[in-house]
Amino acid sequence: MKIPYENLADINKIYHDDFLKTFKEFLDTGYFILGKEVSSFEESFARYCDVQHSVGLASGLDGLILSLDALELVKGGEVIVAANSYVASVLSIMRAGLVPKLVEPDDDTLNICPKNIKAAINNKTVAIMPVHMYGKICDMKEIMNIANDHGLKVVEDCAQGHGAKLDGKIAGSWGDCNAFSFYPTKNLGALGDAGAITTNSEKLKEKISALRNYGSHQKYYNKYVGYNSRLDELQAAFLNFKLKKLDELNAHKRKLAQIYFENLNTDKFRLPVVDARYEDVFHIFAVRINERNKFQEYLSKNGIGTIIHYPIPPHNQEALSEFFTNEYPVTEKIHDEIISLPSSFMHSEDDIKYVCDICNNF
Ligand SMILES: Cc1ncc(COP(=O)(O)O)c(C=O)c1O
Repeated sequence: MKIPYENLADINKIYHDDFLKTFKEFLDTGYFILGKEVSSFEESFARYCDVQHSVGLASGLDGLILSLDALELVKGGEVIVAANSYVASVLSIMRAGLVPKLVEPDDDTLNICPKNIKAAINNKTVAIMPVHMYGKICDMKEIMNIANDHGLKVVEDCAQGHGAKLDGKIAGSWGDCNAFSFYPTKNLGALGDAGAITTNSEKLKEKISALRNYGSHQKYYNKYVGYNSRLDELQAAFLNFKLKKLDELNAHKRKLAQIYFENLNTDKFRLPVVDARYEDVFHIFAVRINERNKFQEYLSKNGIGTIIHYPIPPHNQEALSEFFTNEYPVTEKIHDEIISLPSSFMHSEDDIKYVCDICNNF
């Protein structure tokens, strides 16, 4: 039996007819840029995230850059971010003219550690960027307390956390301005690149709406040095449809995670941390094992697809290594041990039980 890690065609197959209908309606409107689909998605997504505003953008990376830009942080200021984040979080800080201050994550939750945030704060710190890794929201209560105590801005990176909650409060509703990616593999995935920000600030919403459109609120009048980062109207139409399915998809991923929790041998594998206060959405089901590379090879020989999220931490990337001189042993250990197992909408409970059996026989 072959179990691929993920197959985007299969994940979207059940919606095939709906997508064709959506495309036809879109084509017939003749309105291809910033039309009704974008504004309707912005309204629905803001409601889903329990905030006043959402602004649709071209990608998650742009969501982070434009959030930092709109907050008008002092150039050269430091933004605290987890050293084990996906490289995009770090790139966004640099692209916004700021300095990424990498801190170690918590070795159990794999999310940024509040204690390490506190230790990293100095007179150059301007913001914190908590990244909700693998579908678990960061300890936002503690992080917001730290930010408030030190007068820092917070930009949540929610690319992996659509719908994740802490004490019932959803990702994207905690920080000042928060970014989402709708890259096709995300829990809410478009059929191409797409992103958005969420905020309760009318001022930030206005500024980011202009920044995404050359810095213009009004055609041919430019208030800011902007970008072209509009959410594509067709992607917004697909997202309007897929947003209605997000809770069902998250529930499916939770069910598959439960099968892993019940069946994987915990003497062999270090599983994600479970805490009743946290509602995880398992964007990625990542486990840790000492002989990770051998294990991945073994699974591959047995027809099971896996991915390493991620093989190289940002501070060791060719493009970035010159900017970072500190050592990050917790981060590096995570990168050596982590492996993501199949857990997508196309996988059945039987598929995952089979994966567990093969894993336990390693
Ligand atoms: C944590 C994180 N931040 C940011 C991004 C960037 O999103 P996008 O690919 O839409 O630019 C990603 C995408 O994979 C991500 O995982």
